[in-house]
Amino acid sequence: MDERSFREHIDRWESLALNGINEGGKVECEMDGRIKRIIFAGMGGSGIVGDFFLDLAHHYSFPFDIYSVKGDYIPFPVSSEDLVVLLSYSGDTMETLSIFNQVRETARVLAVTSGGMLLSLSMASPPACAIKLSKGLFPRLDLPEMLYAVSSFLSKNFGIRFLSRERLLSSLSAFRLDLREEVLNAARSIFGYFPIFFASRPYASVALRLKNDLSENSKIYSSIEIIPEAMHNTIESLWKLRNNHKIFFVAGRHAFGDIFVRAFSEVLGDRIDKVLLRGDDLISELIYGYRLSAYISLELSSLSKVNPVKTEAIDRYKMSLKKILEEN
Ligand code: F6R
Repeated sequence: MDERSFREHIDRWESLALNGINEGGKVECEMDGRIKRIIFAGMGGSGIVGDFFLDLAHHYSFPFDIYSVKGDYIPFPVSSEDLVVLLSYSGDTMETLSIFNQVRETARVLAVTSGGMLLSLSMASPPACAIKLSKGLFPRLDLPEMLYAVSSFLSKNFGIRFLSRERLLSSLSAFRLDLREEVLNAARSIFGYFPIFFASRPYASVALRLKNDLSENSKIYSSIEIIPEAMHNTIESLWKLRNNHKIFFVAGRHAFGDIFVRAFSEVLGDRIDKVLLRGDDLISELIYGYRLSAYISLELSSLSKVNPVKTEAIDRYKMSLKKILEEN
């Protein structure tokens, strides 16, 4: 894939999202009985789906608890009242496969993948079931399909009103907003700096996505800080930062009623640049944020003359991990 087709895939995110709505609503899985917890497990561009649902859980009320695990192990026992949603675009991520092995005999399992070991293992271990994703993309390019497929699955099986098919279809208009001006302004403001993205719930997943897109696509290091926790530690050192850092506050409409955000703004005042998320509801605001993030990172990759497609260090890590596991 070259840079141009990378961008074209992002331009076509709406059709991937629609595909997700249809696929997630079609898949037949036994979901009888009570589910008390949903545990999302996955890494990087796939695992961020868990952060999306954590953001939603901070605003809407789900009929189950939501957890997101980024690693190779769920640090508590799981049972048949737990649904573990394993997210791996490739289906070959070691950490996610390790969680599959941990939970496959005790919990309900839904694999969300385009193939790999995760698909074959879940097919071979009924009642584990799978949502199959479009092939030939990168995990970070398939975000809308994953988000919407899982949302549609949850809506169909658990009747969640704020994820109904109508609500999901109406949120697709967020993919049609013209972001060019915002993208250029934000990219110019970031270029040459190390950004620190501050966010509060329910917008933390957008800050995380910005950090990851800037790293993977633009090869720019940035960091994220979550309010209010950062106000109990990080805030103390911000005034000592050198000139090459810049603070950005990522926020949508729900952030501004938040007392912690008000206190944060009073302390940092005019030292903050804002990344404002537009949308009629939370899902639309989050989608707006993920799109903005993708396009800002592409703009920065062209300003910095780096290739957004290749992720050589991540690939090297995966190969080393595989080798270490084979040797042991
Ligand atoms: C690459 C990317 C990575 C991967 C991660 C896990 O586009 O976004 O962060 O998502 O290495 O791989 P998968 O998603 O295949 O389980």
